[in-house]
Amino acid sequence: MDLNEAMESRRSVRKFRAEEVAEEDLREVLNAARLAPSANNLQPWKFVVVKAEKKRRLLAQACFGQEFIGEAPVVIVACATSRGGCIGNYMESWPVDVAVAVTHLVLAAWGKGLGTCWIGAFDEERVKEVCSIPHEVRVVAVLPLGYPLKLPQATPRRPLEKIFCEDVYAE
Ligand SMILES: Cc1cc2nc3c(=O)[nH]c(=O)nc-3n(C[C@H](O)[C@H](O)[C@H](O)COP(=O)(O)O)c2cc1C
Repeated sequence: MDLNEAMESRRSVRKFRAEEVAEEDLREVLNAARLAPSANNLQPWKFVVVKAEKKRRLLAQACFGQEFIGEAPVVIVACATSRGGCIGNYMESWPVDVAVAVTHLVLAAWGKGLGTCWIGAFDEERVKEVCSIPHEVRVVAVLPLGYPLKLPQATPRRPLEKIFCEDVYAE
């Protein structure tokens, strides 16, 4: 699948087949995250790959009871490991860096027939407890990963003309 096709067809997946994720596919998906750009090339990320069912269920609880997370054969916890980068002279770069890497991961997964759902609703302390993540490391996203049970419906997007303007900012 080419990148444009992956971007066009990707959906958030919340129902997974019980089938395990092939190790080769998992490595390629993680490698896609590794290749992402980052501010000052700091690469401030670490991905905790959780396969143990008990931990997956605990992660679902830490995501405020979003049970489908625990039903995926793999759950990836995307973490930020270091600070220092700055964007626009006001913003720390680590959440953006990790988000870019997660986007690589999500699209690469889709290209391999794997579904994910970006999870932002989680209690960071509880996620850290489940995976023994150190205090100074931050959790940016939780990602259930597995083969989709069926293709979810597309969600709407704003029209192209509404999201850009030329030369000067315009509403
Ligand atoms: C930062 C972020 C946080 C999200 N958090 C959740 C979440 O906690 N639970 C969930 O089911 N979906 C979550 N989503 C998925 C969005 O609901 C989904 O991407 C959006 O509705 C568009 O649908 P699509 O991904 O199928 O195109 C999140 C997505 C992003 C990018």
